[in-house]
Amino acid sequence: MDFELKTLSRARVAAEKCDALVVLVPEQSPTEADLISALIGHALKQGDFEPKPGRLLQAYRTPGLATSRLVLVGAGDGSAKQVRSAVTAALGALKGSNVRRVIVSLGWLAGDVNGPASAAVLAAADAVYTYQFTKSKPVPAKLQAVLLAVPDAQAVRASFDKSVGVARGVALAKEWGNRPANHATPTLLAGAAKELAKLRGISVQVLGPKEVAKLGMGSFMAVAQGSEEQLRFIVLSYKGAARGQAPVVLVGKGITFDTGGISIKPAGEMDEMKFDMCGAASVLGTFRALAELQPALNVVGLIPSCENMPDGRALKPSDVVTSMSGQTIEVLNTDAEGRLILCDALTYAERFKPRAVVDIATLTGACVIALGAVRSGLFSSDEGLAQALSAAGDAAMDPCWRMPLDEDYAEGLKSNFADVANIAGRAAGSVTAAKFLQRFAGQYPWAHLDIAGTAWKSGAAKGATGRPVGLLVEYLLGQAQTPAPLVSAAPKAEKAPKAAKKAPSAPRKRVTRPA
Ligand code: BES
Ligand code: MN
Ligand code: ZN
Repeated sequence: MDFELKTLSRARVAAEKCDALVVLVPEQSPTEADLISALIGHALKQGDFEPKPGRLLQAYRTPGLATSRLVLVGAGDGSAKQVRSAVTAALGALKGSNVRRVIVSLGWLAGDVNGPASAAVLAAADAVYTYQFTKSKPVPAKLQAVLLAVPDAQAVRASFDKSVGVARGVALAKEWGNRPANHATPTLLAGAAKELAKLRGISVQVLGPKEVAKLGMGSFMAVAQGSEEQLRFIVLSYKGAARGQAPVVLVGKGITFDTGGISIKPAGEMDEMKFDMCGAASVLGTFRALAELQPALNVVGLIPSCENMPDGRALKPSDVVTSMSGQTIEVLNTDAEGRLILCDALTYAERFKPRAVVDIATLTGACVIALGAVRSGLFSSDEGLAQALSAAGDAAMDPCWRMPLDEDYAEGLKSNFADVANIAGRAAGSVTAAKFLQRFAGQYPWAHLDIAGTAWKSGAAKGATGRPVGLLVEYLLGQAQTPAPLVSAAPKAEKAPKAAKKAPSAPRKRVTRPA
């Protein structure tokens, strides 16, 4: 899909040739002499059109207009949010048609259109995306190009470019999220990462079972051991700043299918557990956007990826595994596997002496209960990081909500047979999962995004959303504005978040059986 930005006045846009012209009409739309304004005026006066977000009125081959179709769409108060609804409705209505080239005009909106321009690009990309990969007769999308018409292109150029980059990242995250588990195995995900490494600034390293065993990732390996599919540990790197600059590390949960393992899930809706790699997909998507936008910072992406399957060799409840940190974990429920693969990736992250580590995971059903599909769960013991992520989410219309990490929540994770158990009671399930992860993230500022409710939609519109690529890119672009500490100068002890200090220090030894 092609996006273009152009300065076009209200009068000029009427003379621009295209298959469809979408005009966003706010409640307070200007009454002017140009043809389109006059049409809007009539339609409003006759009561044939209401400027409420998403309301449509279409006209065909209107004399005086160069477009074949004119689509008036209500844009409500003209805010970014209502513009998003408007563009979703308008392009949704055009989706099945023959329309190839659309102009979306923001010329009737008042004031600064930076927010609406971003919202329009993202909504257009979202509306046009169609899953094709496993259809025997793919229907290529007719709609090829969207031109955004604004009063002053220069004033919105930066927001426009940013949102085009984000849209490409979101599309990649949606695509990999949507692919069925047999078409998105750990090996295929690693292939997607290798494709990204062809882009400017990106490189990748893919580790297999042998290398992962050598690193001592006993917890990650334990989850993978019940599957015929080999695990992969993907290490992506984007270099946009000096080598010595401490990177931001993103860690994405890459369970390509979560049956629950021996603690098997009920059959109903189990298909949706193909989306259990949406954290990983959001990391891939974010790197896609980085390649597009080339910000001046360093970013590392870590993706532990495997299936969670029941099998004769599978991990069992009561098994005790030894994580890369040296901490032993009693597996009381094999369905709490996300934290078991993430904890080893969090330990691996230490070697980059990161300025911050953010993990992204479809981690708990409890987070869906707590926050639904509107906001992702945000957990962090670092005030600055929490605020930056939360502000980025609001700015990108990809919001999250801060959740608590009081030490009291870790009570239920105590084990009689290991350093920690992998589950606590039913209460506050998303928080206890985060408390588990926090034990492995004591060496750097850390945040955890639980995207179980936001990464995909169920029901008739079943499909990945590409969230939280928007949030992550917004956050990273913000970080590119603030100088990073040099890796060598990163003061380890000071960086450790307070609460995490209470967690037992990580003894790097193997557990041996007592004599
Ligand atoms: N991938 C699931 C979390 C999930 C469940 C996301 C439903 C979205 C919808 C995760 O691996 C899981 O199974 N978590 C368990 C944890 C429990 C066993 C402590 C859960 O949430 O039920
Ligand atoms: Mn699970
Ligand atoms: Zn899972």
